[in-house]
This record gives sequence, structure tokens and C-alpha cells, in this order.
Amino acid sequence: MRVVILDSEQEVSQRAANLICELVGSKPDAVLGLATGGTPLGTYRELVDRCQTGQISFSTTTTFNLDEYVGLDADHPQSYRSFMRQNLFEPGDFNFDRCHLPAGCSRDLSQACQSYEAEIVDAGGIDLQLLGIGTDGHIAFNEPGSSLASRTRVKALTEQTRTDNARFFDSLDQVPTLAITMGIGSILDARHIVLLAMGAGKASAVRAFVEGPITAQVPASALQLHPRVTVLLDQAAASWLVRRDYYQHVENIQRQLEQSEEPA
Ligand code: PGA
Repeated sequence: MRVVILDSEQEVSQRAANLICELVGSKPDAVLGLATGGTPLGTYRELVDRCQTGQISFSTTTTFNLDEYVGLDADHPQSYRSFMRQNLFEPGDFNFDRCHLPAGCSRDLSQACQSYEAEIVDAGGIDLQLLGIGTDGHIAFNEPGSSLASRTRVKALTEQTRTDNARFFDSLDQVPTLAITMGIGSILDARHIVLLAMGAGKASAVRAFVEGPITAQVPASALQLHPRVTVLLDQAAASWLVRRDYYQHVENIQRQLEQSEEPA
């Protein structure tokens, strides 16, 4: 895992946007795995800004979102499809036909889950998967206890997650109880995983997944098994890490190596 500790939330968003733009710049038909929630919003603002100023185009990029609530119409303002349209797909130049989210309103949810996995395979797999992390260590809607080999399926949300997400709804009662989510195994199939965490509220989950044991009780800890994970943190989210100084030392050396490899 490459743990990068940055000074501010804005720097985390910019660094994530840089990684995405480097990929799409060199591979315009790249396949991105995208996330919703508060964490990626700054990254999406950066991407939209770069797109609107002509620095990058996403018109041939394919996307797969991690998850979608069960039972909210695609047009419901709190559906993840609406979130993505509003915050990225519409203000960016994404081709909606290439933007995929699980079908949370399907009559056959288990078929919808299988089809989603098949669509990802047909697209050639995910090149870069963007992730946030829940306060309980979940990734996507893989709550604690989820199998580390899980695939796309329907999950019941914990009360903690429903409470965390209630801020986007008028009341807790309106937060759905089920979601379709890519599994931990599905996420680990991505070629590069970029996890972002900002704020003191994430510090405990960050410490647990970066430095704790691999356990289904902390779903993000499964990322320790992946060969290419970049963890972008602001100072507050990194504040509980025991080996913080070491990560900063490694990062300094890594950057020096990268600079020495850049063409003169
Ligand atoms: P947040 O959620 O980005 O809104 O903090 C992250 C998550 O639950 O994965």
C-alpha cells in the first residue's frame, strides 16, 4: 500500500484527480470505478473543472459505480445515479451510455447483480477504482462481516451507515435499508485502487485498515492483499497511524525516484 499523507482535503482531491487524469490522458477509453458520498466530491469538482477548461475529456471513458440503493427510482434525488449525474457525468463530458450503476430498482435483484459483474468483465475490467471508507471500515456497502471474497450482491445496511447517510435525506426513515454493492472480491479485481479519507472521523477506520489485521470486521483491510493500492489521506485522517513518519519518509523517497525517472 502506498500511503500518502497530504496537508489538506483539497490536496487529497487534487492528487486523486491527477491519478485519474493521468490514466484517462494515456488511455481515453479507460474503465473507472467510481464512488459516491462526501469523500469524492472534491475530486469530481476537480475533474469537472479540468474537463470544462479543455484539459481532459471523458467522452470515451467507461464508468462503473460501486453501489446503488435498492428501491429508489433512478431519478430519485438521493439515488446514486442522480448523484453521479449531478456531480460528475452532466457537468463533465461523460457519455451516459458508458456510465453504469447497479439496477437498484430491478424486479430481479440477483440477476441485476450477476449482470453487473458480467458488464464489468465485458468492459475489460476496472483500471482504477476510487474508494471512500465508512467510519466502521466498510468499502462500498460491504459492511463489517462481509466476506472478503464477496461479489456484487444485495446487502442490508447497518444502522451506523444509515445514520451516517441520513444527512443526505430529510430523515433517517427515508434512508433505504438495502443496497446493491460490488463485493470486496469484485473491488480487488481492479488494477489500481485509490482510497481517499479525510477528516478526524475517519482516523480510527484508517488506522484499522492500514495497520490492523486483515479481517472481515474491517472490510477495507482486504486491500492489504492487493498489489497496487494508493491511500490518499489528509492530516486528520492520518492522525491515528502509528507508522506515519515512516510512510512520509517512504513517500519522499518514492517521489525522488519518480522525478529522477522523468524525461529531462
Ligand atoms: P462518505 O462515505 O464519503 O460520505 O464519508 C464514505 C463511505 O461510506 O464509504
